[in-house]
Amino acid sequence: MATEYNFLKACWGQPVDRVPVWLMRQAGRYLPQYREVRSRGEGTFLDLCKDPERAAEVTIQPIDILNADAAILFSDILTPIEPMGMALDFTPGPVFADPIRTQADVDKLIVPEDMAQAVSYVPAIIKRLRTAFEGRVPLIGFGGAPFTLACYMVEGKGSKDFAALKQMMYGDPALYHALMEKITEMDRRYLNMQIEAGAQAIQIFDTWGGLVAPHDFEKFVLPYTKKLIAGLNRKDVPVIYFVKNSGTMLELVKEAGSDVVGLDWHINLGKARDILGDDIAVQGNLDPTVLYAPKPYIEKEVQRILDENAGRPGFIFNLGHGILPSVPPENAIFMVDAVHRLSQK
Ligand code: CP3
Repeated sequence: MATEYNFLKACWGQPVDRVPVWLMRQAGRYLPQYREVRSRGEGTFLDLCKDPERAAEVTIQPIDILNADAAILFSDILTPIEPMGMALDFTPGPVFADPIRTQADVDKLIVPEDMAQAVSYVPAIIKRLRTAFEGRVPLIGFGGAPFTLACYMVEGKGSKDFAALKQMMYGDPALYHALMEKITEMDRRYLNMQIEAGAQAIQIFDTWGGLVAPHDFEKFVLPYTKKLIAGLNRKDVPVIYFVKNSGTMLELVKEAGSDVVGLDWHINLGKARDILGDDIAVQGNLDPTVLYAPKPYIEKEVQRILDENAGRPGFIFNLGHGILPSVPPENAIFMVDAVHRLSQK
């Protein structure tokens, strides 16, 4: 795949002149410029997601401020659940007023035929961004993995162990599977719509996929991500699959069929690459709390991760999870510059 972007080259395992870097959750509250846009008007976080002009503005901010090598669409993994018929609020964590618990709840869920119409603000933001970037950086679209979406839909909110979801999964697997089929089909349409609108890569966030044991991952999580990825009109659009806490089951994560595997910081990057093999790219994996450290420490950690990669192609530098809201922006700026500086050929 011929491309000028280091980020896309790295996704395809091609050589680059310096390692590309972006940060999960790079648009967000740690940036005063984001907080300024967010507080403009009376709007909520969801209102911001639905306002193409402001959403595009906050997507661009980390490109200007951090010099990141890729932009990620500003939205949330849960916004496409609203048109499935579930009222959604952020306080600031996501809350569904009526979580899914019964067969009747699953039956009621809508799988919109036309996601471009159901969440029309998403293609509007993507189109606006592609015009704004004019070849400057590639745009990543994203969605939640079916399992992580189910966690919130069944629990109704964030949780440490998602007991309601686990009760359904173990106690009524037929109901669980019926729910997962619907979510996966919505997700497939949603991500294909983003590709159609102009997303140049897709990241699938499985924040809670590492909550289960490997044999349960194989049974309850993997089949749906696999089906989702197989159903994408990928053409030349690489897919990144990030499963937090999956360092002990990377062989299974690879089976999902993505082009890139996202890594958290609980496994050494070199070891992860040895397990995954050289036919798949990786993204990660700096501990997000290292951005609280003094700059020389941040630089040492960047160098350590570059050393673990040992010059192998197919590497995108990132944090091992989202940037934390109280991180000093200057440390994030320093980190991005360190990756560029220390990896420059
Ligand atoms: O810059 C980017 O990465 C793009 C924007 C983005 C957001 N959420 C914006 C957001 C992305 C990619 C997400 C993904 C997301 N959302 C995930 C997967 C990644 C991860 O972090 O694990 C999950 C699990 C969610 C669900 C969610 N949304 C939670 C748990 C929360 C509350 C926690 C928090 O950070 O406050 C949100 C709200 C949210 N999503 C905010 C932002 C900027 C904060 C809302 C605000 O500005 O008030």
